[in-house]
Amino acid sequence: MEGAELASQLKGQLNSNKESYGMIGEDAPDLHLSEDEIKWWRNAKFGLFIHWGIYSVIGKGEWAYFNEKMTEEEYRRIAEQDFCPKRSAEEIVGEWTDTALDAGMKYAVMVTRHHDGFAMWNSAGSWKDFTSMKCGPKTDYVRAFSDACHVKGLYTGLYYSPMDWRFPGYFDPIGKPESAARMKKQCYDQVKELCTGFGKVDILWYDGGWLAHQGTDADAAWFWEPLKLNRMVRSYQPGIMLTPRSGYIGDFKCDEGPHEVTGKIIPIPWEKEMSISSVWGYQPIDRFWDFSYLLRMLINVVCRDGNLLLNVGPDAEGYIPETARNILRQIGEWLSENGESIYGTRGGCWQPVDNVYGSVQTEHAVYLHILDCGRFREVWLAEGEIPEGKKIESATLLDGKVLSIQRNHEMIKVTIPKEIEAENRIDTIVKVSLR
Ligand code: GLC
Repeated sequence: MEGAELASQLKGQLNSNKESYGMIGEDAPDLHLSEDEIKWWRNAKFGLFIHWGIYSVIGKGEWAYFNEKMTEEEYRRIAEQDFCPKRSAEEIVGEWTDTALDAGMKYAVMVTRHHDGFAMWNSAGSWKDFTSMKCGPKTDYVRAFSDACHVKGLYTGLYYSPMDWRFPGYFDPIGKPESAARMKKQCYDQVKELCTGFGKVDILWYDGGWLAHQGTDADAAWFWEPLKLNRMVRSYQPGIMLTPRSGYIGDFKCDEGPHEVTGKIIPIPWEKEMSISSVWGYQPIDRFWDFSYLLRMLINVVCRDGNLLLNVGPDAEGYIPETARNILRQIGEWLSENGESIYGTRGGCWQPVDNVYGSVQTEHAVYLHILDCGRFREVWLAEGEIPEGKKIESATLLDGKVLSIQRNHEMIKVTIPKEIEAENRIDTIVKVSLR
């Protein structure tokens, strides 16, 4: 990844050195959601991101149109002639949503329109009818996707890119104001369609509010008027959660890319986004992150109070690559055994120590996620960090096996039995029950 594509990803990263944690953008208190309104998302922890569109036929990632310097005509020809999946929309999204459920995911976010401008639904507001309904498949994938999410109980997320490379005004909004204005109108019209045509939408996942691939999304707020845009959004979808990439500060911060998550608990709602392979959109030859890396990622994110949105790039026919499906199934199996230490928890009460352990808490327990039992042997935990009014009752493994607790000056030490340590689990979980 290089050039503007890389810069776009870097823009979406969390800078934990800054007080704002990189939450920049226009702000308006009337748009803020309460902790109660975002509770479902805080509890959900794990979601599926899906990058699928014309670029999946080309097989060079979702930036293919721009990176390969294709003309609008060439790209449209692919949309009309080559993007023709044989399976029905229901079968395709049925597989995606089943995959998400099998992986233990609670929400799914589908790319409904990327920077290439191709809308994956019957969009009346699309510039030059560049939609999956008018071109190639003649099918409304967003309809099928949102229906499947609603029926299967997955929270529904729609990714939408305000920017559209087809408009010369995107690259020169001052010099080509008419073209830029048409792009902006398309954005408002399409966002309205997404908010009014598909039942309840839980997340509007904006990406790419910057102009001419320059500056930040916040710098482009003069153009998009994100407060106006998002007031409209909320008038149709009152509790919908928004990413910061429309130029409005957003309801949670994003941290894009596969780099490890380290350091302290991040005291604002945040989401890690990464792809299960080396790219977001489909590539026939690809490298996949393994189960162990991804599981550690999930644990490191959740112990720092974040969510993980893990991406897949289905192929031209809409199939999620088999390697990806197998890894996701493994994560799902792990979660079906250990989910009580992930879902519905909050980071803490003890601050994580990189590569050694982290913790999460519920009302009745603190769960220690131990990544290195050897180094954990030396760890003393301060009892004073336990929520006020609570006392430690016991420490057990999730199967109920009782562990010994040593006490010294309001510090405790939990001993992991030798035979458990010898199993070399990716994550050894200790439940510290509170009363
Ligand atoms: C980056 C990429 C974009 C991708 C997004 C996903 O912004 O530039 O193509 O869709 O990350 O979060």
